[in-house]
Amino acid sequence: MRSFVHTTGPSRVIFGAGTIERVREEVERLGGARVMLLSGGSPALRKDVERLREGLGDLVAAEFDGAVMHTPVEVTERALSLVRERRVDCLVAIGGGSATGLAKALAVRTDLPQIVVSTTYAGSEVTPVLGETVEGRKTTRSAPEILPETVVYDVELTLGLPVPMSVTSGVNALAHAVEALYAPDATPVTDALALEAVAAIGRALPALYEDPSDMEARANLLQSAWLAGSCLGSVRMGLHHKLCHTLGGAFGLPHAETHTVVLPHAMAYNASAAPDAMARVAHALGVPDAATGVFDLVRQAGGPTSLRELGLTEADLDRAAELATAQPYPNPREVTRTGIADLLSEAWQGRRPQPAAGSAPDLRPLTDEVVASFDGCANPRLRQLLSDLARTLHGYAVRNDLTPQEWQRAIDFLTQAGHITTGTRQEFILLSDTLGISSVVDALTNSRTPETTSSAILGPFYVAGPPAAEHGADIAGGLEGTPMWADIKVTDPEGTPVGGAVVDVWQSNEDGFYDVQLPDLDGPVLRARFTTGEDGRFTFWSILPSEYPIPDDGPVGRMLSAVGRHPYRAPHVHFLINAPGHQPLITQLFVRGGAYLDGAPGQRDAVFGVKDDLVTHFTPHTGPTPDGRPVQGEWRLLDFTFRIAPSDGERAPTSSTETA
Ligand code: BEZ
Ligand code: FE
Repeated sequence: MRSFVHTTGPSRVIFGAGTIERVREEVERLGGARVMLLSGGSPALRKDVERLREGLGDLVAAEFDGAVMHTPVEVTERALSLVRERRVDCLVAIGGGSATGLAKALAVRTDLPQIVVSTTYAGSEVTPVLGETVEGRKTTRSAPEILPETVVYDVELTLGLPVPMSVTSGVNALAHAVEALYAPDATPVTDALALEAVAAIGRALPALYEDPSDMEARANLLQSAWLAGSCLGSVRMGLHHKLCHTLGGAFGLPHAETHTVVLPHAMAYNASAAPDAMARVAHALGVPDAATGVFDLVRQAGGPTSLRELGLTEADLDRAAELATAQPYPNPREVTRTGIADLLSEAWQGRRPQPAAGSAPDLRPLTDEVVASFDGCANPRLRQLLSDLARTLHGYAVRNDLTPQEWQRAIDFLTQAGHITTGTRQEFILLSDTLGISSVVDALTNSRTPETTSSAILGPFYVAGPPAAEHGADIAGGLEGTPMWADIKVTDPEGTPVGGAVVDVWQSNEDGFYDVQLPDLDGPVLRARFTTGEDGRFTFWSILPSEYPIPDDGPVGRMLSAVGRHPYRAPHVHFLINAPGHQPLITQLFVRGGAYLDGAPGQRDAVFGVKDDLVTHFTPHTGPTPDGRPVQGEWRLLDFTFRIAPSDGERAPTSSTETA
């Protein structure tokens, strides 16, 4: 069992396109009347700052555009004098980590409310942590006043962020999410935020590289930045963040770029000690191995891959390893000096990390080639179905690390299914039924309205063109069993009788066999075709169906026994209804109180065919029968109305069966 403490910071997030227009409203909501506008003076943001200034209008009491990286205290002091001089009562920052850092540094000294309009993906705007530099030394502190009151994310502002910065800033966010997954104080909430962020960043970065104006990709990245930033604010980060702070603080390497280069290597280092987290990252990214997947993602999106290109010299590596291991911090794998030196050396050279031991080879090129081989198919539906079948099967093999012996077993299984299949024994339907696929296809095709009777699977024992029978006929052919009188009505969803409906009925005998399974039986028994009268009705005599095993002397039966599943179906009668102007209905009625209707998965109906509205009373009676037929002892009454859907305008079912 997992125990945890989760605290959510009390910040408000406004997300969307054009949300910069709402900053004034937020200032007023926070009771501000004298705003100080903070920025880093970047020319790229000039227009946005202008827009913000205009939107705030007479609320702007001061402006400071000198925010810089690492939040040096001397810059904060200068801004602080302005705050005091102009009697500022609210801080509005626009930009990335530098502007946010300055707002936080001022807020912790004055307790003023802060609104941050975030234009990068760094995530610091949603953390209560402040990193400052005092005389060149970086210090970090955390306090509730540091957390901005409101964060405004405006996707339109990120359109101007150049692709290289978008990529490195996006990987910075990715790093928060990855390290949150193996943090010692992770919670189900941070797990969920982190995984959502990883998956969305994995999709957005390549999309953005392809088309920098892709608003959806921009929105996904910005939203992920918020989610990943929330992780950063909630849990303690490990090796990766330590290395990045060391490289940034001691060697002046640029923040987001350093994250981008180091992340795959930190992940590869931790992979053996955090296999679960890495498997989840790999799954979220849709790659076989998390660390190499992130490296490839960076490379594909044109991001930096070596510390050398960021300006670190080889001679610095040893000192960096020493600094990064000087103090202990939480990390899944023990941090050793030689381990970190090796890691840094790989990152310096820009090498692709080794996939984690035991991780699957990257088979995506092979899968892509197979999928592309269907590109020439003129039938788009066939192309779609085959492409996805290939992807699904390849994924299945990879996820399960399928061995040649296992795959051969599967081929043998299908071969045996083919050999045992005849005109009256259909092993492939049994396989589809026992794997639940028949019920999935049935559910996708039919049962779409609550006003109509549910459909159910056809099963392998339907025989097209059963003998026509009169109302009141006995279809049991003299077979032993509890007599059953069926009084069946077919109506439309409003209850109007449907006359002239052709209804095929079939069921097993008392021992659970269908006539086609009993070669000695003379002629079709326990199957017939009725036509409803003007009143939508027909009646017949039969016998009470009992539970029965599906044929289990073939490969499907062996599969069931190998997994400890029984082969029984709950007792039922089949109906196939075809009426002009209506959708066909294939269904079954189950005997209420019968076996295999309830219980744990694997103990119920072997083919997952039961639906609640199809379970009905087969009411016991003694004495006079509806048509006056003399019956000794108990007989049962099945009185049921099928409601069938009109065919117009509805999606036509694809599982209708020839009734010639
Ligand atoms: C049947 O109900 O007839 C049936 C359905 C699936 C598998 C075997 C039998
Ligand atoms: Fe059946």
